[in-house]
Amino acid sequence: MPDYTLKVRRYQPESGEGAYWQEFKVDLDPDLSVLDGLLQVRDREDGSLVVRCSCRAAICGSCGMKINGRSTLGCKTQIAEAHEQANRRNGGTEPIVVEPMANMPVIKDLVTDMESTHWTKIRRVTPWLLPEGDPPEREYVVPPESMIDITQSMACIQCGACVSSCLSLEVDPEFIGPAALAKAYRFVGDPRDAEARGRLYDLAQDPHGIYDCTHCFSCVDACPKDVAPMDQIMRLRRIAGDDHDIDDVNNGRRHESAFTKIIEKKGTLDESLLLQESYAQGVKGKLIPTPGAIKGLVGSLPTAVRGLRTGKMRSLAKLIPGVHEKLPGDAQEHVQRIYTHAEEHREELNLYISGEEELEPEPDEAETPTPEAAIEPEPDEEGGR
Ligand code: SF4
Ligand code: SF4
Ligand code: FES
Repeated sequence: MPDYTLKVRRYQPESGEGAYWQEFKVDLDPDLSVLDGLLQVRDREDGSLVVRCSCRAAICGSCGMKINGRSTLGCKTQIAEAHEQANRRNGGTEPIVVEPMANMPVIKDLVTDMESTHWTKIRRVTPWLLPEGDPPEREYVVPPESMIDITQSMACIQCGACVSSCLSLEVDPEFIGPAALAKAYRFVGDPRDAEARGRLYDLAQDPHGIYDCTHCFSCVDACPKDVAPMDQIMRLRRIAGDDHDIDDVNNGRRHESAFTKIIEKKGTLDESLLLQESYAQGVKGKLIPTPGAIKGLVGSLPTAVRGLRTGKMRSLAKLIPGVHEKLPGDAQEHVQRIYTHAEEHREELNLYISGEEELEPEPDEAETPTPEAAIEPEPDEEGGR
């Protein structure tokens, strides 16, 4: 059986020592998982290695960890794949690096404290139904199709991989986070819940709520159950803004809308317009001197200075109106066509609902039989012939 090397980040608090790295050799069938490798180490070599697991089948959510820097489940990651991933750029000598999940305190070796960061935030979003009136005598009856929309968020196994991978949580530990916000959508989208507006208002006004997500896709990549937490957060934002017209005190809704408006108009982000569009929305190129706008602009100056210092904003010139470079040729028209298409063909897609727009066939495609049409029918499909 092939040999693999696991490089594990160890932390044994009772020793009084800090965290350290330790390498272990395991011989394992390539189809088995990194978790199987860790359990082999614990059985054969070092009984003090601590790892949390239960189902070993990507169901219980216990074995969240970082493998080669990516937050995932140990039992869902094949050891051969992890080895290949660690060795994409060299001759196969690199170990598989295994660490505890990030953005949460480490209790021991690969076991993190899920209570302080994950479960506390899940409770923050009131993770139960809040129906109106007295409960029915038997059960609440809802049409099955009205539940399809929330099936994706219901697939969450609470493993914390998205929390571990969240870039926003890294800079703002108070951020409610991807798992809890996906859970919030589960109830906002449930037709039996009577508090959708209240929930949305709360999550929009919270400075660590739905507008604290930076739309980085990291949680979408990390989630082993395809919950796509970021998509659920974007749904919460859209329902809060479009359906309930909730303007948040953090200016998140207007800032987001400013991005889309500027790119529609200019093709790329003109940073000189971003602040004024965010704080004085509605009149392009002009600042409406409302007290809120002026206060917001002045309050944003330290952010602009920090952006310059850290290199996020590369030049002050970008803040001068009219300096922004235009897209070449007719590229801007292409961008506008994408906007028009998106506006006219709004589709909700999730793991369980997939839709594809029916396009008019091109003239020379109209006669071409589709692959399905080209398949010979079975005899009993031809009118019982
Ligand atoms: S998309 Fe949002 S919630 Fe997901 S990892 Fe990025 S910042 Fe966090
Ligand atoms: S959303 Fe996905 S990654 Fe996040 S806790 Fe649920 S299953 Fe895990
Ligand atoms: S052990 Fe249950 S999800 Fe990995």
